[in-house]
Amino acid sequence: MKKEYHIAVVGATGAVGAELLRVLERRNFPVSNLRALASGRSTGKEVQFSNKPIMVEELGENSFDNIDIAFFSAGGETSRKFVPIARKGGAVVIDNSSVFRMDSDVPLVIPEINGEDVKQHRGLIANPNCTTAVALMAIYPLHRAFGVRRVFAASYQAVSGSGARAIDELKKQVEAAAFATASPSGGGQDRQSLAKVYPHPIAFNVLPHVDVFLESGYTKEEMKMQNEGRKIMHLPEFRASVTCVRVPVYRAHSVAVSAEFDKEVSVEQAREVLAKAPGLELVDEPPKNRYPMPLTVAGKDNCEVGRVRLDCALENGLAFWVSGDQLLKGAALNAVQIAELL
Ligand code: A2P
Repeated sequence: MKKEYHIAVVGATGAVGAELLRVLERRNFPVSNLRALASGRSTGKEVQFSNKPIMVEELGENSFDNIDIAFFSAGGETSRKFVPIARKGGAVVIDNSSVFRMDSDVPLVIPEINGEDVKQHRGLIANPNCTTAVALMAIYPLHRAFGVRRVFAASYQAVSGSGARAIDELKKQVEAAAFATASPSGGGQDRQSLAKVYPHPIAFNVLPHVDVFLESGYTKEEMKMQNEGRKIMHLPEFRASVTCVRVPVYRAHSVAVSAEFDKEVSVEQAREVLAKAPGLELVDEPPKNRYPMPLTVAGKDNCEVGRVRLDCALENGLAFWVSGDQLLKGAALNAVQIAELL
């Protein structure tokens, strides 16, 4: 008989947690028992799994008794405190936070790239940063073919990457602007007062930073592509200079990438490589205005790549555009794929 697993989802009421439940269900993951965990604020709430309501429980020290696999998606602080407890209780943890990603004894895995690394786990596997995951889905196959040296990139990140409250914040600001009278600020003041998750209005705006600034002037998020990229691709010399930008899009991140390679590249060869890459679709018909977009990639498992062209400022360079549903490939789907490897 097929083995079934006792599963815990920490952060089950959040944007990623809700997606995790859906992905487990639609991929027929063998779940015998599912525990939905969140903060005390959610006690009494229900989530749906396999057409059945499941009571949300408050996360606590005893939440992991008899759990085989625990998915964590409740922020860094929760992971820092409860991942060790879950491991001690015998669960294998798949953690979506950034807390353990760079620890040398923790595999950081994108199954299409370094699935083999899962074998080295000691009760904890980290899920990569969402923007990094989406970008690497296209960068890695090109690296295999041409040897990547460095990339320059800018991200266009959806608000769902900041969680359920940010989705609500954009919605409220859009409504405030729509109902504002034709004032010079166009409802800007209302939008400012509705800015809670972000320091500025996100509706009809773009924010050129998505998390904390480092001394170097880069943000933490921006350095993840280099740091996590090195670990995932087993490429210690890989360099990435990134500007991460939050845009008023509900779902799916996009990344504009310019990449420099060791070997000479051609657009034709690159397209061939990208078209065959697992988990990726080539959507690249400029004359028909066909290219990847958040609107068309949202809800899809595969990431999409297009706008492939020779980079006019780099040696052996390619420029391209990748979009991917960051709640899926950047979080829930990737986590469930890791569990499938286990
Ligand atoms: P809750 O809904 O009870 O606050 P998102 O990323 O969409 O904001 O979701 C974050 C998820 O993490 C939610 O499920 C949230 O639960 C959960 N969470 C946040 N803080 C804690 C905590 N201290 N303990 C347990 N779960 C938490």
